[in-house]
Amino acid sequence: MTRGKFIAFEGGEGMGKSTQARLLCDALKRRGIEVVATREPGGTPGAEAIRDLLLHPPGEGWGPQAEALLFAAARADHVQRLILPALERGEWVVCDRFLDSSRAYQGAAGTLGDDAVRRLHDVGSAGLLPDLTIVIGADSAEVSRRLRARDGEMSDAIGGRDSHYHASVNAAFDTFVEAEPQRFLRVNGDGTVEEVHARLLEALAPFLAEAAR
Ligand code: TMP
Repeated sequence: MTRGKFIAFEGGEGMGKSTQARLLCDALKRRGIEVVATREPGGTPGAEAIRDLLLHPPGEGWGPQAEALLFAAARADHVQRLILPALERGEWVVCDRFLDSSRAYQGAAGTLGDDAVRRLHDVGSAGLLPDLTIVIGADSAEVSRRLRARDGEMSDAIGGRDSHYHASVNAAFDTFVEAEPQRFLRVNGDGTVEEVHARLLEALAPFLAEAAR
C-alpha cells in the first residue's frame, strides 16, 4: 500500500484558505484520489473540544505557553487518530492549517519562538511535516474586506488580535517560504475564488505528476 500524501494549507486570516482547501479536495476526488479533508485546531472530537477552549477561552484567557501547549495537544490527537491512519490507508489528507500556523502565530507573532514550537511538535506529533504546504497570500485591503464580511463584530480570541500581531503572522509565513522553498508552494490569493483555484492547480501540477508516478 502506497502511503497517501499530506497537504496543508496555511496563511494569515481571511486569505481564502478554507475555500481553496475544499476546492482542491473536490479536484483530487475527481481524479479518483481518496481524500480526507480536515482542519486545525480540530479534526477529531478531542481536538475540536480544544479548539473551542482556544478560540473562546474561559476566564481571563490562556498565557502564551498554555496556548501553544493546547495547540500542540490538539495536533497530537489529530495526527495520531486521524492523519496518520488515513495516510497509512493510502488516502490523501488535506488539512486547513498545521504546524506552520503554530510557528507563525505562537512562535513568531507570539512570544514562544520557533525552537519551542518545534520541540512541542516533536514531543506531540513526532515532528510530522506535510509533504507539501500551500501558503495563500493576498492583498491586505482585500483581506480586510473579506474578514469584515466573514466575522462582522464576532472575531474569536486569536482572529481578534490587533493588526500588528496579524502583520507579524503574515510576515512569518513569507519568511518560512523563503527559508524552505522545497517544502512550500506560495499561491497568490488575489482575484476570484475560481481564479485562485486555477492558479493553485497549475502550481500544483508538478507535485501531482510526481505523486502519480
Ligand atoms: P481558522 O480560523 O483558520 O480555523 O483557525 C483558527 C484560529 O487559530 C486562527 O486565528 C489561527 C489560529 N491558530 C493558531 O494560532 N495556531 C495554530 O497552530 C493553528 C492551527 C491555528
